[in-house]
Amino acid sequence: MGRLSASILSADFSRLGEQVKLIEPYAEVIHVDIMDGHFVPPIALGAVIVKSLRPVTERMLHGHLMVEAPEGFFDELKEAGLDMVSFHLEAVPEPAPAIAKARGAGLGVGLTLNLETPVEAAFPFLGEIDDVMLMSIRPGWSFQQLNPDVYPRLANLRAEIERQGVPVELEIDGGVKIENARRAVDAGATVLIAASGIFGQPDPAEAARRLRDVARGEAA
Ligand code: DX5
Ligand code: ZN
Repeated sequence: MGRLSASILSADFSRLGEQVKLIEPYAEVIHVDIMDGHFVPPIALGAVIVKSLRPVTERMLHGHLMVEAPEGFFDELKEAGLDMVSFHLEAVPEPAPAIAKARGAGLGVGLTLNLETPVEAAFPFLGEIDDVMLMSIRPGWSFQQLNPDVYPRLANLRAEIERQGVPVELEIDGGVKIENARRAVDAGATVLIAASGIFGQPDPAEAARRLRDVARGEAA
């Protein structure tokens, strides 16, 4: 059954704890975007945010590392209370050592691919990871439009995950809204990530509930 992951990037940080409590009944995962100003132009979030959130929620805290040399951050993030890391294959083209390092630190681990990176690049590593995240926007900013090129990419990866018979979650990150969520699920996504699709809506809890229902395949 599919899940919703709430990306806090477009939450109101002056009351982050409250915002997380609001959507927690519907989001099984809290997605924390970590940016270094090199791999992507902005800088954003990090271990201090994870540490603040850890006592607030029991939900899985998933770090999306948009950084160069992500492995240097794993221990600090684990210590702060993070459960899982995803890093970009574009930042680490030979990811086996970083995957092993994340495992050694006691973190779940996934690979993330930008729209320009062929999905086949992830195929050799599917047996070693928990999760693949496909970007459907240019990484770095919330409130962009989903690029429909992601749909055949999801379908292609879904087919390969099934062919290999591995328990890998397939996430879509960027521009996910109630209007396009069903199509992402039909294409093979098992985790819908949304920031503005939740926190940019007039009623974030209701928006999260509706997205959760679509992720689960319970709504039209
Ligand atoms: C962007 C981040 C996304 C972002 C999604 O680089 O990886 O997680 O928060 O924002 P929305 O859902 O608004 O496109
Ligand atoms: Zn993200």
